[in-house]
Amino acid sequence: MSDSLLSPRVAVIGAGLMGREVASAFGRWFTLLDCPVRPELVGVCDVNAAALDWFRQVPTVRHFDQDHHALLARPDIDVVYVAVPHHLHEAIYRDVLRAGKDLLAEKPFGIDLPAARAIRDEATKLGRFVRVSSEFPFLPGAQRVVAYARSGQLGRVLGLRNSFLHSSDLDPAKPINWKRQTRFCGAAGVMNDLGLHVAHVPLRLGWKPVRLHAQLQKIYHERPDGHGGMAACDTWDNATLHCALDLPGQPGVPLVLETKRMSPTDTNTWEIEVLGTDGGMRYSTKRPKTLETYTRGKEQAWAAVDLGFATPFRTITGGIFEPGFPDILQQMWAAFLTERAGRLGDRFGCVTPDEAVTQHEWWTAALRSHADHAVVNL
Ligand SMILES: NC(=O)c1ccc[n+]([C@@H]2O[C@H](COP(=O)([O-])OP(=O)(O)OC[C@H]3O[C@@H](n4cnc5c(N)ncnc54)[C@H](O)[C@@H]3O)[C@@H](O)[C@H]2O)c1
Repeated sequence: MSDSLLSPRVAVIGAGLMGREVASAFGRWFTLLDCPVRPELVGVCDVNAAALDWFRQVPTVRHFDQDHHALLARPDIDVVYVAVPHHLHEAIYRDVLRAGKDLLAEKPFGIDLPAARAIRDEATKLGRFVRVSSEFPFLPGAQRVVAYARSGQLGRVLGLRNSFLHSSDLDPAKPINWKRQTRFCGAAGVMNDLGLHVAHVPLRLGWKPVRLHAQLQKIYHERPDGHGGMAACDTWDNATLHCALDLPGQPGVPLVLETKRMSPTDTNTWEIEVLGTDGGMRYSTKRPKTLETYTRGKEQAWAAVDLGFATPFRTITGGIFEPGFPDILQQMWAAFLTERAGRLGDRFGCVTPDEAVTQHEWWTAALRSHADHAVVNL
């Protein structure tokens, strides 16, 4: 197998919050025991020169560019990870694909549905390998919920709820940033920002809504602009989508998708609960090693089990230790690069371009549902 598949040279465009996490994941790649691929971070690009400077401590990085065209013209780059504001996704992702590189895209994969379709179609036309970032399903607890939902042990399905919840926006003095402005984040607001995290598992189970009703809230309408004034904060803060699934022989199963920036006490809390007539499972990053299960009986109770470090790719980390954000980000990268090399097998994979387009269809329907106070058929 070629070097570019097993030893891919990777570059990052957008050296902000998420861009730096890649250097961290690759820097301790030797923790992975059974990943056939060994990537090297070779380049970084950011319009902000100060953001590039952090990467100078990463020994493998040899290209520092402020213009993504300059980075993409370099022949010694196989894969590009792009983590920039949403209004730039379509142009930069398509530039990556036209430069002959494979792409790990950030969510939401374009600022809206037409952008997502254009990126997906360009990737198909050019035959490039593209996946989209979503790391929470790689948590051991989430993996168990997925396996359980697939196993048939639920009996008749009573429903699935998946939530991604933040609370820092409750502070009205928190300054504005691009994620709170429609022209940069997109009209779908919090759904663009947090939505793929709650769409990945239902999409992968093949549990796609046939109709939905959305409740969207804009709670604070302005925020400090960081320069002594106030700026309009015009994105949706909280979104609750009540969806219906038609599962084989089970019409109208409820699926609830929650994305909230104002959820008291929650700091990056990802939660999932699936219930059936015979049993159920739930998992929350508030208790990252604990899986709760329920089995129907005369007396009914949730039982809690500590899972430890049962990640999809085995690691040197002791089986009783707790997993965290950097661990699942590394697992996601391992899945992306292993799938790119054709070696993923039956392990859980990253979001596909088609799945990313489908989540945009859901957010578009949610906007229409809210505007019309109506149930929207999908
Ligand atoms: N997977 C996750 O858990 C997760 C978490 C946070 C953000 N994200 C996603 O990652 C992406 C970036 O978010 P972030 O929080 O890292 O943002 P950020 O604001 O921290 O960083 C964005 C970076 O992009 C740079 N940039 C802007 N325009 C550029 C250009 N033309 N060329 C090169 N660099 C440019 C900025 O200077 C900045 O350093 C978004 O799509 C966001 O939705 C994903």
